[in-house]
Amino acid sequence: MVEEQTEVLFPKAVIDRRVRELAGEITRDYAGREILIVGVLKGAFVFMADLIRGLGIPCSVDFVRLASYGDGSVSSGHVRITKDLETPIEGRDVLIVEDIVDTGITLSRLVEVLRGRRPASLRVCVFLDKWARRQVPFAADYVGFTISDVFVVGYGLDFNEKYRFLPDVCLLRDIA
Ligand code: XMP
Ligand code: MG
Repeated sequence: MVEEQTEVLFPKAVIDRRVRELAGEITRDYAGREILIVGVLKGAFVFMADLIRGLGIPCSVDFVRLASYGDGSVSSGHVRITKDLETPIEGRDVLIVEDIVDTGITLSRLVEVLRGRRPASLRVCVFLDKWARRQVPFAADYVGFTISDVFVVGYGLDFNEKYRFLPDVCLLRDIA
């Protein structure tokens, strides 16, 4: 039987500080505007909850849930929306909040779909960026941390639905 072991990569205090910085940056960039934050379920919900509480501007929130055909840990290139927004975004300042950008396939597809709905502006904030694994060009406007090609869990991120509750971001290792 294979069990996993976790090792802390970003402790809660480091995450808290960085998320406050990001929220400050977003607050400055959108001063005087009201944004719609679009969270990508499920992984982004913890990050999004912390991020919006650091904002000094009004925001509303909505969520999308996406599925990519494939084995669940690897994007296959076919992304579909399994839960769509409930808010019309035409003319709105929209900020997508996602847990992690890996190959870039999911977010580039989501951006393409939402752009088609003619928001006034559309930006992306990711908690983690695995830039070395990009398969399609994609650059987020706001990035919490960049990480190498490692699998991480905690702070909303899961492995088979486990570990989302961990307050730290942890590396996942298999032990036989
Ligand atoms: P793309 O399309 O950019 O997909 O390849 C990004 C999605 O892949 C998942 N992902 C991870 N989930 N730990 C996780 O818990 C990881 O290290 C990891 N890397 C990629 C995640 O769902 C993300 O939205
Ligand atoms: Mg995700």
